[in-house]
Amino acid sequence: MVTLVAPQPVYEASLDRPPARPARAAGKRALERICVVGLGYVGLPTAALLASRGLSVIGVDLKKDAVARINEGRAHIAEPDLDMILAAVVQAGKLEASIRPQSADAFLIAVPTPITPEKKADMRAVEAALASIAPVLKRGDLIVIESTSPVGTTERAAAQLRGLRPDLKFPDLFPEQADVLMAYCPERILPGQTLRELVDNARIIGGLDHASALRAREVYATFAMGQMKLATSREAECAKLAENAFRDVNVAFANELSILCEGLGVDAWTVIKMANLHPRVDILSPGPGVGGHCIPIDPWFLHQALPDETPLIAAARAVNDGKPLRVANRIGRLAGRFRDPVIAILGLAYKPNVDDLRESPALEIARNLADRRIGRLLVVEPNIANLPEALAGRPDVELTEFGAAVAEADIVAILVAHSKFRNIDRAALASRVVVDTVGLLKLSNDE
Ligand SMILES: NC(=O)c1ccc[n+]([C@@H]2O[C@H](COP(=O)([O-])OP(=O)(O)OC[C@H]3O[C@@H](n4cnc5c(N)ncnc54)[C@H](O)[C@@H]3O)[C@@H](O)[C@H]2O)c1
Repeated sequence: MVTLVAPQPVYEASLDRPPARPARAAGKRALERICVVGLGYVGLPTAALLASRGLSVIGVDLKKDAVARINEGRAHIAEPDLDMILAAVVQAGKLEASIRPQSADAFLIAVPTPITPEKKADMRAVEAALASIAPVLKRGDLIVIESTSPVGTTERAAAQLRGLRPDLKFPDLFPEQADVLMAYCPERILPGQTLRELVDNARIIGGLDHASALRAREVYATFAMGQMKLATSREAECAKLAENAFRDVNVAFANELSILCEGLGVDAWTVIKMANLHPRVDILSPGPGVGGHCIPIDPWFLHQALPDETPLIAAARAVNDGKPLRVANRIGRLAGRFRDPVIAILGLAYKPNVDDLRESPALEIARNLADRRIGRLLVVEPNIANLPEALAGRPDVELTEFGAAVAEADIVAILVAHSKFRNIDRAALASRVVVDTVGLLKLSNDE
């Protein structure tokens, strides 16, 4: 039987319609001071952009070293152009970082939402962030949750805050009449292009009521140029999760097809290229799995709501999560042909041209091979200076330069399509066993 995970919302189903009752003046204070809680890949660039538009921004993070560094005008994360903007806004006195929230007109929450070992959303950071702003909340304030969250989170946030601040009215129970406004506005940025995407991307502004959505739109309108679609908080929460579940399911199809093609003895990239000549078919590229901190995680937030009704989402996760082990097993089988196999591992990052190893299938494959001790691993990852903890200190694993690794290897495993690998020496590969999990050789050939 289908059960809803939270009570039905009391507000209008779509906020693109005018509100049932006129909003009272709760949100009509001038927007001058913004408090951004969580200064990571999402929060810090957002705080810097808000400050660059002349707003007074308090950035909050638990990490004292990050706070200190930001107050020196330097970012603790790598993102193009962020240091430049940060230095300017800190020097102008528009952005200040702190370990504690302060009074503001609006609070943006951008703290992590990982999964638990049981594949459920771990919302402790969001709950802690809400608890930390509760003492400084006052009538007319807006709270926006940006962290990727299960459907119903904004309603639960209102209930949590009501418990902490019974003196204030929240919009879940007092739509259009609340003291504090609340919205859910998901983020869709691509690391490496964050500043441009924060400005250009379309946004979903999901209010607990219409007044909340309008006020949240005011905040983003200070720097965002993309389309802004007003919605309910539930619609916004669900849309964000649907985006990443959609991508995961589509990658899973490509990955399953690649397994099928391998079994059938046909080349998956050729098959996909031909299938995509159909005007309404667009199969994605297969790979060694799915990595990063969003796509392998967010689909579980949808699945947890109605597990019995979402077998496709769970199956896609299983296909994509199972891919690294398949690749490792294949390399292991091929290594059995050599007495002392030397294996070049090309790429450790979760996607091309980044240094991010979070949830990386390539790293999982390398770790699996290292655990089995089936030979020497010559790891090539041009975007890192040292081996990650999972591989460091192992006698059979070395971080190696690209050309030297290919020259010395018996097996070349291409795990990430970094641009720097495109000019691989094909003549040298002719005498190697090659496992190309990303179709790099195909891509380079066809271009
Ligand atoms: N990074 C992305 O590309 C991206 C894209 C879309 C959505 N998101 C979502 O945005 C949210 C934030 O992601 P991120 O990549 O910025 O995470 P992150 O880990 O880079 O940064 C989060 C920051 O929050 C801080 N923090 C944790 N608990 C806190 C608390 N109670 N008070 C103050 N600070 C606290 C951490 O110290 C950390 O610096 C997540 O829900 C993520 O899924 C991220």
